Amino acid sequence: MTVTPIPPFDLSEQFKLIGDEINQAALAVLGSGRYIGGATVEKFEQEFAAYHGMAEGIGCNSGTDALFLALRALEIGPGDEVITTPFTFFATAEMISATGATPVFVDIDASFNLDPSKIAAAITPRTKAIMPVHLFGRSADMTQIMAIAEAHNLAVVEDCAQAAGTEWQSKKVGSMGQIGCFSFYPTKNLGTCGDGGAMTTNDPEIAQRLRILRDHGRTETYRHEYLGLNSRLDGIQAAILSVKLPYLDQWIAQRCRIADRYHTLLAAVPGIVLPQTVDGISWNQFTIRIGNGLRDQVRDRLRELGVITMVYYPIPMHLQPVYAGLGYQVGQLPQAEAAAQEVLSLPMFPEMSEAQQDQVVKTLKTVLGELAAG
Ligand SMILES: Cc1ncc(COP(=O)(O)O)c(C=O)c1O
Repeated sequence: MTVTPIPPFDLSEQFKLIGDEINQAALAVLGSGRYIGGATVEKFEQEFAAYHGMAEGIGCNSGTDALFLALRALEIGPGDEVITTPFTFFATAEMISATGATPVFVDIDASFNLDPSKIAAAITPRTKAIMPVHLFGRSADMTQIMAIAEAHNLAVVEDCAQAAGTEWQSKKVGSMGQIGCFSFYPTKNLGTCGDGGAMTTNDPEIAQRLRILRDHGRTETYRHEYLGLNSRLDGIQAAILSVKLPYLDQWIAQRCRIADRYHTLLAAVPGIVLPQTVDGISWNQFTIRIGNGLRDQVRDRLRELGVITMVYYPIPMHLQPVYAGLGYQVGQLPQAEAAAQEVLSLPMFPEMSEAQQDQVVKTLKTVLGELAAG
């Protein structure tokens, strides 16, 4: 009997459910003849800001650009330092470097996020901001991070790329720091049908600067006061996002049900550590840990048996070849390094069926059993 492989995520299932709405919205933009900017983009920006209880939402081309634009709007650049996590997607660190500033990596804790107890020791006279990442849909400890930032007069830029709809003590991520940065990459909690991103802020001056920076730094036609980017959210993506935003909470509830079921079905399985569950988590990923150097063997065998998993992320930022010049050593950020060797993200998407999940669980148990038997 051939088994249909279980993918890590399946976007086609969602399209089957809301494809008609998406097609209509996209066709309306095509028919309007206004493809960049305009009412469709402004409508989504307002809806996205309102969803977060924020004054301003500013669309842009990607989550990567959102991080760059946010740092530039705060006038962060050469000579400055930005504290962030070493356990993230590369764009977080990359965009700090792209401004000319230096990323300063602080180790994580069991939440996979920045360990707030280690931040203060990393602050120097050059530190300008803290950039927490809400990894896998779990908020970083924003109470402690905001308190440290206020005490040291630092800005906070939240990397919410993986966490749209996540809450920290009933507040949405992206509503606590000076600027929240979001990605609408298709597999995110709120994903579009291409690239897209947005920033949220309550500060009208910052919002104004973000709008200028995303449009070549121009203050009026062909008058450029800053060096910016071409980073506009296009009309078709904005229209699709307006269709999808009202579903976001429902999709997160579905992710939570799947995560609860993984917790129940995998609770007694030896050889794995399950992710912590906390209020407000949105489960963009369900990431287990497999120690004793067995993670890659488990992943390969799962693939052979038709379960495709992901490793986010195998190399922490401080050990990336491009950052060799920053002088970090192996062993310096041990929690991030251990996570990089142990994490395995199981298939997780809102439309995942119980039968698919049962197959993942059964296959994982088989593989772990095989390894335990030697
Ligand atoms: C934590 C994090 N930051 C930033 C980004 C960049 O977002 P985008 O792919 O939209 O540029 C991602 C995307 O994967 C991410 O996971």
